[in-house]
Order: sequence, then structure tokens, then C-alpha cells
Amino acid sequence: MSLAETIPEKLQSRIDNIISNVEPNPWLSEAEKASYIVKIKALLKQKDAVVIAHYYVDDELQALAEETGGYVSDSLDMANFGAQHSASTLVICGVRFMGETSKILSPEKTVVMPTLEAECSLDLGCPIEEFSRFCDQYPDREVVVYANTSVEVKARADWIVTSSNAIQIINHLMAEGKKIIWGPDKHLGQYIKNKTNADMIMWQGICVVHDEFKLYELEQLMKKHPDAEVLVHPESPEAVIALADFVGSTKQIIAAGKKSTADTLIIATDHGLFYKMSQVVPDKRLIPAPTGGKSATCQSCAHCPWMAMNTLVNLYETLRDTTNTIEVDEQIRQQALIPLNRMLDFSYQNGILTAGDA
Ligand code: 13P
Ligand code: SF4
Repeated sequence: MSLAETIPEKLQSRIDNIISNVEPNPWLSEAEKASYIVKIKALLKQKDAVVIAHYYVDDELQALAEETGGYVSDSLDMANFGAQHSASTLVICGVRFMGETSKILSPEKTVVMPTLEAECSLDLGCPIEEFSRFCDQYPDREVVVYANTSVEVKARADWIVTSSNAIQIINHLMAEGKKIIWGPDKHLGQYIKNKTNADMIMWQGICVVHDEFKLYELEQLMKKHPDAEVLVHPESPEAVIALADFVGSTKQIIAAGKKSTADTLIIATDHGLFYKMSQVVPDKRLIPAPTGGKSATCQSCAHCPWMAMNTLVNLYETLRDTTNTIEVDEQIRQQALIPLNRMLDFSYQNGILTAGDA
């Protein structure tokens, strides 16, 4: 058995352990929420801070980011926005790799997160020691990693990609005759391989949220809604992706929904995205792709347990006390900055990011 094949089992027990130890989020009345929002807005001004949120965090955090001149987007845009913004403190509402990416790009800024416990199963499932040993076995290959990784894994990589730019970057590497080591998401890796025909050796990580989308139940749902368009995030299983009308990053899914002429959209990604999607296409019917059914598990809720750890309460406390700061070793940061800048430069040069995104 190869090194990469041993990871999922270890990953599962670590994830089960983490999820079972998570404290439930505090319940807030509407009046309490309003009071936290007022206090957070005052602190943002006082501390010269801006909120940058991912589409998967709670609606109220997304709304707060937008109301206060912050930003809500996919992982590529979040990193780019933070680096371009003039605020001295970036408040990243998302998961830890997103905070780390911001810190790599903006070392002079204070980067805080509502909680540092918000992880990602892809990051957890790709420890640097094992991944580095895996890469060492194939020294002639270009190491391409997904942004959902630790700063150490990024520092080990030649290229970093997100779901927004992965296909174009792999095509670019293929044109240069490069063979690839890909990590950590096996589904995204398989999707890229199917699209590009690249020579890729893959790490076997998964996103615990997207891995739960179910083929059989999706087929049944599509029969009930034959005119619906199916939009899928590429961290989903290959068989689910095969049914999609559109595959892309969170931001690209929203853009595809906007362009679609269908009245009904079936969406296979975290349900946090429905907040923005329903604003963008208020007249369309939005249906979550099924995660339940015959083979459902307790993780089948289409909501990232780590994204859900971001709350108004811990955002307020973090800002008030300037706690949960992201710190990154300077030498590793500089190494990780090389593939990260490579990705950003490529994205600008190829129109995936534009000046208006920042
Ligand atoms: P996006 O880059 O599409 O926002 O994806 C990040 C992520 O963690 C999806 O699960
Ligand atoms: Fe990671 Fe999946 Fe959560 Fe995204 S949804 S942060 S890939 S665990």
C-alpha cells in the first residue's frame, strides 16, 4: 500500500475526534445578535479592521462583512482582497488555511480569526511530514497543492491552486511537459485529471462535506426536476460531478447560477452558499443536492463543521481582545509566498482575477 493510501483512515479518526469535541455555538436572540453587530461595527472602525468572509460562514457574518465594507467570496478572492485592502487588521471568517494564506501575503498586517480551531479536513489529512516524504519519492514531478493546506505544505509546493484556477494551471504545466504530484483532494484531483489528461500522482484527501453528496439520490432528484440545472463544487465525488451542468469554485457557481436560464438550480456545495445565491437569483428555485439517503452518515448535513465555528460572539471577542492572531514562521512564509504569488500572477495574467476583484 502506498503512503497516500494510508491517510484516509487516520484522517477519519482525527476528524471524528475533533467533531465530537466541538462545543455547540451559543444561541442568540435577535436582540442579542443586533447588540453584537453594533459592538462589532464600532470595533472594526476603532481597530482599522475589515471582515473577509467565505460563502460558507453563517448568513449574519456574510451580511456583516458586506455592510461594513468587507468582502465575501471564494478562497482565491479572499486572499487577494486582504492583500489589496488598506486595513491594518484582517478579520478572516472561514477556516485556518484562509487566515494563513492572508498572513503569507500580508505579513505586516494583523490577521485574526474568530477561532483558530476552524480547520479543514483536507488540511488535516495532509500532514507536512508524510506529504513531504510522498513528494520525495517523485523528485521529477512538479508539486501542485490545493490552497486548502497548511503553510508548511504550501512551502513544499511548486504551485498552489484553488478550484477557480486549477484546470488552467495544470494545462499550463502540461504545456511545459511537466508531470504532477497533486494533493490533497482526491476528487478535485480526479476531476482535473479527467479534464486535462495530465499525468498526476495523487494524495488521497477528501473534504468531509462534499464527499457526502450522493449519486443515486441526486439522480432521483434530477428526475423530479428534469429542467433543473445542476451546479457542483469539484470537491464532490466523481460520479456526482459527472451529472453536473456546471463545475466550479463557490464564486464560479454563483456566477453560473446568475447566467443560467433555468428556473431551478440543484446545488452541490455547502449550504452557506445559498445565502448569496438567493440574493443573486431571487426568482429561481434553489434545491440543495442530496447528502442524505441510504448511505448517509452523521456528517451528511452539507455544512462544514469548521466554518460553522465562526460566530458573532467569537468574532466580537477576537476583535475586542485582538486574540486568535495568525502567526507564521518567517522562513516558511517566504517559501510559501513563492508558489502563492505564482498562482496570483497566473490568475491575473489569465483573467481569472481582475483588478476589479481586489
Ligand atoms: P472555494 O475556493 O471554491 O471557495 O472552496 C473553498 C472550500 O473550502 C470549499 O470547500
Ligand atoms: Fe475544508 Fe470541506 Fe470545510 Fe471547505 S467545506 S473548509 S474543503 S472541510
